Amino acid sequence: MKNAIIAKENFRKRIDDQEVTLFNLKNKNGCVCQITNYGARIVSFFLFKKGKAPVDVILGYDSIDNYLNDDFYLGAIAGRYANRIAKGKFSLDGKEYSLFVNNGPNSLHGGQKGFDKVVWKTQPFLNEKEEEAIELRYLSKDGEEGYTGNLEVKVIYTLTNKNEIKIDYCAETDAKTVINLTNHVYFNLKGAGEGLITSHDLVLNADYFTPTDSNSIPTGEIRSVTNTPMDFRSAHKIGERINDDYIELIQGIGYDHNWVLNKENSKLSHFATVKEVSTEIVLNVYTTEPGVHFYSGNYLDVKNGKESKTYPARSGFCLETQHFPDSPNQDNFPSTVLNPGEIYTQTTVYQFKVN
Ligand code: BGC
Repeated sequence: MKNAIIAKENFRKRIDDQEVTLFNLKNKNGCVCQITNYGARIVSFFLFKKGKAPVDVILGYDSIDNYLNDDFYLGAIAGRYANRIAKGKFSLDGKEYSLFVNNGPNSLHGGQKGFDKVVWKTQPFLNEKEEEAIELRYLSKDGEEGYTGNLEVKVIYTLTNKNEIKIDYCAETDAKTVINLTNHVYFNLKGAGEGLITSHDLVLNADYFTPTDSNSIPTGEIRSVTNTPMDFRSAHKIGERINDDYIELIQGIGYDHNWVLNKENSKLSHFATVKEVSTEIVLNVYTTEPGVHFYSGNYLDVKNGKESKTYPARSGFCLETQHFPDSPNQDNFPSTVLNPGEIYTQTTVYQFKVN
């Protein structure tokens, strides 16, 4: 791969009467993280290793026009409710709300025009450690996509000097609502478009996961991973058991599930390590959230990726830190209700190590 930092010109466009552009965050090690305010998306992350060509570990497109036609949520913030709400319906205080149904019978990642397809307001800044960061803001109006309450959302991306992308989210509402925010970025530790992620080794610190029905809605069961191909408490290659005769994997065409992270509180803690032997790139992930959706890119089919590369099925993986899917309809899951006067927060850190 050549030093393919994408040109800002490719992203300049007026959308919904607002300017879309591309921002470059750099750190003292020479890493570059590119962010666009269309969908608050991470476009690329270049890792540099002495004497080697830079590796861009994030799947994306090299022009805004391609993002406008994206069906895969590449690099995007998903919301107001990341992942699925069964039949696009939920109730709060006895009142039923109906959402746009965009995934079989369900509502997925915010509906027809979720947070991945809106233009965010931007404010680049340097943090107290002089690290480059960008704040993105979006006001989701009362009634948008069927959700109640005006919701003010803020996302801050920081590129730290430890080669981390740190994502801080916060949100406030003026009426009781539900919220579940995540980032849907796909990684490939061989480099975007450089093969499948089935060779990556994965460790997930989770004793349980939430099984689903054939429409990917949790059944409500919290099932132990013991003796199942969902057990990543010690390292396994993603591809090792992905085609096993296990109903969850058959239904999902691979991994597309929520794992219940082993944690007692909402402190930022390490929960995943992914390693690719051929490039010696390691990703460690930390979150404040109770769950992670590990998605092995089963439905990916991108023909127009960066540098004209293709991204076929299983050429990228996501670790979408989140509350559990369909929580507004599942009493035994941690609550996703946000009341006026409360502040929703979540932090997730993707940390890269190049050996
Ligand atoms: C979902 C997948 C879906 C993908 C969309 C994931 O979070 O769980 O089922 O295909 O997002 O790209």
